[in-house]
Amino acid sequence: MTIEPVATPQERMGIIQGDITKLTVEAIVNAAKSSLLGGGGVDGAIHQAAGEDLLFECQQLNGCPTGEARITDGYLLPAKYIIHTVGPTWRGGRSSEPELLASCYRESLALAKMYGIETIAFPAISCGSYGYPIELAAKVALETVASVLEHEPSILGVSFVCFDDDDYDIYVEAFGML
Ligand code: APR
Repeated sequence: MTIEPVATPQERMGIIQGDITKLTVEAIVNAAKSSLLGGGGVDGAIHQAAGEDLLFECQQLNGCPTGEARITDGYLLPAKYIIHTVGPTWRGGRSSEPELLASCYRESLALAKMYGIETIAFPAISCGSYGYPIELAAKVALETVASVLEHEPSILGVSFVCFDDDDYDIYVEAFGML
């Protein structure tokens, strides 16, 4: 009998371009606001695609502080679960933004592990209305996830979903620097 080695973090990470609400993965991550009651951007797209039962479940959660994560059902989405995390608003980089952003990725992966989720997709948390420069955020996202996967063999696939071409190119470049 041969024992297959666990794939490296980089082998379990991928960058794709598209709409996260369409993905067939076990969990997608939402870049939410702390009320968890929906908004614009990817949050709005997820609530719209999942249907109004999602809002009802979110109302029971009593919000989520920046840097933490909460999990709900995926309702009408192809994904079974939605992990809602609240990224930091960019204030120039000296207000713990990198630590809080890294915490979003770590907390989301911790919830994934707790629920036995093997495949998960992240949007570029904080890179829209919250104004985090994408070059800096991509580095935090990729490095944080790679370091978690190093010690977490149960998560088999992590996708980083970029909504537009420029963001995709930036992620690919940052991935090459890992
Ligand atoms: N699929 C994948 N990525 C998407 C999608 C989508 N359907 N829609 C938008 N994005 C991308 C944006 O291009 C951006 O790069 O998600 C990234 C995050 O942008 P925002 O959704 O604005 O999230 P964020 O910057 O974290 O701000 C959160 O915005 O809508 C509100 O309720 C939300 O108040 C919260 C804030």
